[in-house]
Amino acid sequence: VRSARRVTLPTHEHQPDLSGALREVFAAPGAVPPLGALRDAAARLSATYRSGRYPERPVLSTATEAAAYAAYRMAATHAAAAAAFTQTGRVAGGFQPRGQVDLGGGTGAAAWAAAGTWPSLTTIRVLDRAGPALALGRRLAARAHRRHPIAAASWERWRWHGRHEVPAADLVTASYLLAELTEPDQDHLLRAAADAAQLVIVVEPGTPAGHGRILRARASLLGSGMSIVAPCPHELPCPIAEGPDWCHFAARVDRSPLHRRLKDAALGYEDEKFSFVAAARHPLGRAAGRLVRRPRYRKGLVTLPVCESDGELRPRLVSRKHGESYRRARQTRWGDPWPAP
Ligand SMILES: C[S@@+](CC[C@H](N)C(=O)[O-])C[C@H]1O[C@@H](n2cnc3c(N)ncnc32)[C@H](O)[C@@H]1O
Repeated sequence: VRSARRVTLPTHEHQPDLSGALREVFAAPGAVPPLGALRDAAARLSATYRSGRYPERPVLSTATEAAAYAAYRMAATHAAAAAAFTQTGRVAGGFQPRGQVDLGGGTGAAAWAAAGTWPSLTTIRVLDRAGPALALGRRLAARAHRRHPIAAASWERWRWHGRHEVPAADLVTASYLLAELTEPDQDHLLRAAADAAQLVIVVEPGTPAGHGRILRARASLLGSGMSIVAPCPHELPCPIAEGPDWCHFAARVDRSPLHRRLKDAALGYEDEKFSFVAAARHPLGRAAGRLVRRPRYRKGLVTLPVCESDGELRPRLVSRKHGESYRRARQTRWGDPWPAP
């Protein structure tokens, strides 16, 4: 008769994801600056980002600023990057990158997001000019399971000034970086990224200014001979570039208790708005159409605002009498491809 054995979970079941790593790092006594200092730094960062102006001095250049950023922004930029990467991965199913270079990677939000989207990654390089941000990123990554791709990431001091090359990698990402570069530096960076990568993904805040930078990035990547993968279903002029609207998407972010305290926020979540573009050296696939707004629901009718492959934006009406198509339309969300794959 065999004796009953106690079931033990594999070690990685106990290893945290990014939100767990943030919780653990911020819970360690004396490991991060006191709450008052974090609050002041978060308020300063927030004012800098809201101004929409090119920052006069480097941000995240002190340990307090890096910690404030990680506490109140990193979950949001991670959610935005993860949503952009997921949308890209859904249309580029055959893309299995082995290496990522994350430009202006800071505390590592886009590196965690890429590792979560593409488990094929074995080499991740996070490049940034801010030493304190990289140091905190390294500490967070040390909380991941040793087989998680982020655990082996390298954290490298690197300051973009327009004359560098970007190190070659299957995937080159730049998340929430462009606003901190002058326009000539943005242009050089995008050309160098296009030369270095199979796939380039640029993510920016989902504001009119952020979308403006994405449109310039899109034009630059197309000008370098790359093909658009997402979100656009075409390479024609953006139909949302004219007029008061701008192309953006939203990602739901759970706010940690510390995040809520820093922001004096009551809600347990927020929606991070973002814009992005993904472009590939060789075509990897593209959606036939994509929802660029929230769908509208009326009794027995769904209206889907779809950007389509002919470069036009159309409201697609799907009614109950369309049967299976109606069922799919009801499940389709802002940012999803349409027709549903
Ligand atoms: C808003 S943070 C974004 C960090 C991270 N990518 C994310 O999504 O959370 C911008 C980052 O760009 C870095 N950065 C700004 N200008 C840079 C430059 N010229 N060279 C390298 N890094 C730069 C900053 O140090 C900062 O870490």
